[in-house]
Amino acid sequence: MSKILTVPVALGKRSYDIITGAGLLERAGTIIAPLLSAARTVIVTDKTVHQLHGDILSKALDAAQIDHSFIILPPGESQKSFTGLNHVLDGFFKAGLSRKDVVIAFGGGVIGDLTGFAASIFKRGCGFIQIPTTLLAQVDSSVGGKTAINNAYGKNLIGAFYQPRLVLADIDVLKTLPPRELKAGYAEIVKYGLLGDSAFFNWLDDYGADVLSLNTDITAKAIATSCQTKAHIVAQDEYETGRRALLNLGHTFAHALELEAGYDGDLLHGEAVSIGMIMAFEFSAQQGFCPQSDIDQLKAHMTKLHMPRPGDIAQLFKHPDTLLGHMEQDKKNESSNLTLILARKIGDAFVETRADKQAVCNYLISTAKRLGHA
Ligand code: NAD
Ligand code: GLY
Repeated sequence: MSKILTVPVALGKRSYDIITGAGLLERAGTIIAPLLSAARTVIVTDKTVHQLHGDILSKALDAAQIDHSFIILPPGESQKSFTGLNHVLDGFFKAGLSRKDVVIAFGGGVIGDLTGFAASIFKRGCGFIQIPTTLLAQVDSSVGGKTAINNAYGKNLIGAFYQPRLVLADIDVLKTLPPRELKAGYAEIVKYGLLGDSAFFNWLDDYGADVLSLNTDITAKAIATSCQTKAHIVAQDEYETGRRALLNLGHTFAHALELEAGYDGDLLHGEAVSIGMIMAFEFSAQQGFCPQSDIDQLKAHMTKLHMPRPGDIAQLFKHPDTLLGHMEQDKKNESSNLTLILARKIGDAFVETRADKQAVCNYLISTAKRLGHA
C-alpha cells in the first residue's frame, strides 16, 4: 500500500490540505463529502480528462451519494478566456448552484485557473476544490489560490486570489499524461529545489528519473515536498507583496519565450520554465551573483533528464530586442526597471527589483549569438 501524504496550507480561516498519493480519485467522494454543504456538486473538466478519468470520479461521487454533473470544455489554453468563463458560469446557473455550494476543478492548470476564477465571482464566491490531473497542476497551479483568465493584453491578467477548500492530487491519473507534459511539470519541481532547498535539488539529482517514471512513493514525495515549499511561501505572502515572487524563478524569461512562440502548444509553459530557469542562472552568473559551477550542475541535471534547454528552441532567440520588449511587460515590474528572480547559488534565489535592462539585453544578444544568430 503506497503512502498518502498531507500538506497543510496555513491561511487562518482559509486553510486547507493538499492530499497526495495513489488511488485517491476512487476515494474522492468520501474525502470530499464533509466539505460540501449539500450532497451535490458540479465538476468542470476538459474532454481529454473526462474521457480518461471521468468515470472513476463519477463512481466515487455516486458511492458517497453526491449528486453531480459535468461541464466539459475543449482542452487547451484558449478556454482561459471570457468565452470559457461564461460557459462555466452558465453551467453553474443551469445546475441551480448557490454560493454555499462547492464546485470541483478536475484537470490541468487551465481548468484549475478558469474554475477557480469562476468560483470566485459566482454569486460573489462559492467554494471550490482542486483535483489536479497534470504534474504541473499538482505541484504548482492548484496550490496557492492564483486564479485567472487571459485576454488580448496577455496571460493571467484578469483574475483573483481565491483559495480552494482542498487539493486532491492522485498520482495514478498521471499515468495517462504524455511524457512532454510530465517534463513540463517536472520543471516546476526543480524550481523548488533551485529557489530555496539545495538538499531537495540534490535528492532530485538522484531520483529525478524515478519521479518522471512515476515510481509511486518517490513521485508522491517530490509532489509533497514541492507543495510544502509552495504552501510555506504562500502562507507568508498570500498576495505576492514580496517573497511569493520567488515562485516565479525563470518565469520572466519563460513568459517572453512563450509569447514569442505563440500559445498554440509549440512551447508548453513548463518547457519554457525549464529553459527560463537556466537563463536566470546564466544571467545571475554574468552579473557576478552565482558561481559557474552551480550553472554547470543545473545544466548537467537538465541534460541527464532530457529537459528542455535554450538550444532546443534556438529560433526563438533570433530577435533579442523583441524578447526584452516582452520582458518589459511583465506584471512583476514596478517602474521602468525589470524585476527578475535571480540566484546566488542552487537553493538561494532572490528578488531583484532593479535588474539592469542593458545587461539583460546584452545577455539575450550573447545567447542569440551562441545559438547561431549572427
Ligand atoms: P493544461 O491544463 O492545458 O493540461 C495540459 C494537457 O494535458 C491538456 O491537453 C489536458 O487535456 C491534458 N491532460 C490533463 N490531465 C491529463 C491526464 N491525466 N492525462 C492525459 N492528459 C491530460 O496545462 P497545465 O500544464 O496543467 O497548466 C498550464 C496552465 O496553468 C497555464 O494556463 C498556466 O498559466 C497555468 N498556471 C497557473 C499557475 C497558478 O499558480 N495558478 C501556476 C502555473 C501555471
Ligand atoms: N505560480 C506562482 C505562484 O503561485 O505564485
